Amino acid sequence: MATTATAGETKPQVSSPQAKAAPQVQVAAPSRREFLYYIWGASMALLLGETAAGIIWFALPRFKAGTFGGVFNFAPERVPAMGSAPLNVPEGRFWVANPEQGLVILYGVCTHLGCLPKWVDVNNRFECPCHGSKFELDGLYIEGPAPRSLDRFKTTITFTDGTTATTNGDGDPIPLEGRTIAAISIDTGARVKRNGKV
Ligand code: FES
Repeated sequence: MATTATAGETKPQVSSPQAKAAPQVQVAAPSRREFLYYIWGASMALLLGETAAGIIWFALPRFKAGTFGGVFNFAPERVPAMGSAPLNVPEGRFWVANPEQGLVILYGVCTHLGCLPKWVDVNNRFECPCHGSKFELDGLYIEGPAPRSLDRFKTTITFTDGTTATTNGDGDPIPLEGRTIAAISIDTGARVKRNGKV
């Protein structure tokens, strides 16, 4: 027959192995040398992380395609007829010129003090409104205080026959040689400066 505890009675203390106090583990505090080692390790990890982030930042293209500083995919059908007036593309700050020598993309900023030369049809040349420098259709210097011919942008042309041609180190026009253009890529982040008034 079961018995129940009544008020005033004290229950007997039951002890089990689990109820015994667990043995205390002593954890030694890091020494000064270890502490400095951890700090050094954390600093090196931070430095490496910053360096990696910097490399990735510079490796990524910083200009969007179709904006100045980036690459423009220029429609071939917009290329002016050979020898005719060049086409101004203000969003890219360049002129598309098609002189006899071939296609050339001219930076639209004067090499003197940075004004914007205009194409003057009646004189068949670029003329700068600020100090009167003048340039031919292919950007070559004619006269005025400008120290060199107009700068050019590196351009790659793909032709329908599968061949490609890219602006050389002097920024010379790319000869078309009767080929039909399939695509034009203009890199406004890659400016080629002419070597003087040539
Ligand atoms: S800025 Fe063009 S001639 Fe001076």
